[in-house]
Amino acid sequence: MIGLLDRLVRPLTRALEPERAHRLAINGLKMVPLRHPPADDPRLAVPAFGLTFPNPLGLAAGFDKHGEVADAILRLGFGFAEVGTVTPRAQAGNPRPRLFRLEDDEAVINRLGFNSEGSEAVLARLSARRGRGGIVGVNVGANRESPDRVADYVALIESFAPVASYFTVNISSPNTPGLRDLQQGKALDDLIARTLAARDRAAPGGVKPPVLVKIAPDLSLADLDDIVGVARARRIDGMVVANTTVTRPPALRERARAAEQGGLSGRPLFRLATRMVAETFVRVEGQFPLIGVGGIDSGAAAFAKIKAGASLLQLYTGLVFRGLRLVSDIKADLANFIRLGRYDSLTQAVGIDAAAITAEPWPE
Ligand SMILES: Cc1cc2nc3c(=O)[nH]c(=O)nc-3n(C[C@H](O)[C@H](O)[C@H](O)COP(=O)(O)O)c2cc1C
Repeated sequence: MIGLLDRLVRPLTRALEPERAHRLAINGLKMVPLRHPPADDPRLAVPAFGLTFPNPLGLAAGFDKHGEVADAILRLGFGFAEVGTVTPRAQAGNPRPRLFRLEDDEAVINRLGFNSEGSEAVLARLSARRGRGGIVGVNVGANRESPDRVADYVALIESFAPVASYFTVNISSPNTPGLRDLQQGKALDDLIARTLAARDRAAPGGVKPPVLVKIAPDLSLADLDDIVGVARARRIDGMVVANTTVTRPPALRERARAAEQGGLSGRPLFRLATRMVAETFVRVEGQFPLIGVGGIDSGAAAFAKIKAGASLLQLYTGLVFRGLRLVSDIKADLANFIRLGRYDSLTQAVGIDAAAITAEPWPE
């Protein structure tokens, strides 16, 4: 069924304007009845922040912004889904066009700007799927015009706590002006303190959903020192590394498209994002796990990200260019790497290359 869905949707989607193609993919996933995938190889299971992920591969935020297809995503074989970014109040985002494919680079530039149906609509959908199981995280963000952005994160965590397996606090989208300033020391400390307190209030005595912070790949290493320092001191549950980049690697072929404003994702992001995983890993010193995201489009790339320090993985842009088969291909390759490396589980490979990667020249 996945092969059929792919064959039907992919040629069409590549010909369409990217945002229409995305809507078509979401509607396809809503309509096509997918069966449960075969159980994952137990060696692919990852215990992290009190949850057990059946496999390490998740769908990154931004694909299912409004919580429409979380169950379908799990049925595609992903080990977890991340819904959002959700903002408290519905907002339209930036004017179109705001999503661009760089075909020759296998990359995407987006400046969507948190188009969100708002918390009420998304909460209703996630409440309706309650009890179905599967790990579904909620990625939260602030409204563009919000007078108090931290209050937005707090409100979202309070309302989604009953339905979120975990939260990702997104302070790294390049498309909401000023949002990334929340990554700075004092502001970040206040944000993390208040979001963790909101989570504790919202789950009194019950299971507390873990709270992760998602960072940009464009931070300086001095900023990363501060962020990890705050995250460790406040005992955050984990970090997602990384969001899209505002840089443009010189090797990009589609120079005209590359000049579009927004965040770049996909293959050209891989080296920078993986370097940031390694830099974060060596600073975290095992205090909490990382989700590695950015440019994963093969089993080898997935395994490299794990060896750089990621306990879990996410991808988005790889699916656009490689199709839904990528999910089962990566899982099969990871099982092979485990066998070849004679590991008992993937966890043993996490971070084994981190120190070596941080000694390499900075990726362009
Ligand atoms: C079209 C698009 C929309 C995105 N929207 C979000 C978002 O709403 N929230 C977020 O945290 N990340 C968002 N991202 C970033 C992805 O979650 C991911 O961090 C990034 O794309 C790098 O992974 P990739 O190279 O596998 O795509 C978006 C990415 C794309 C391509």
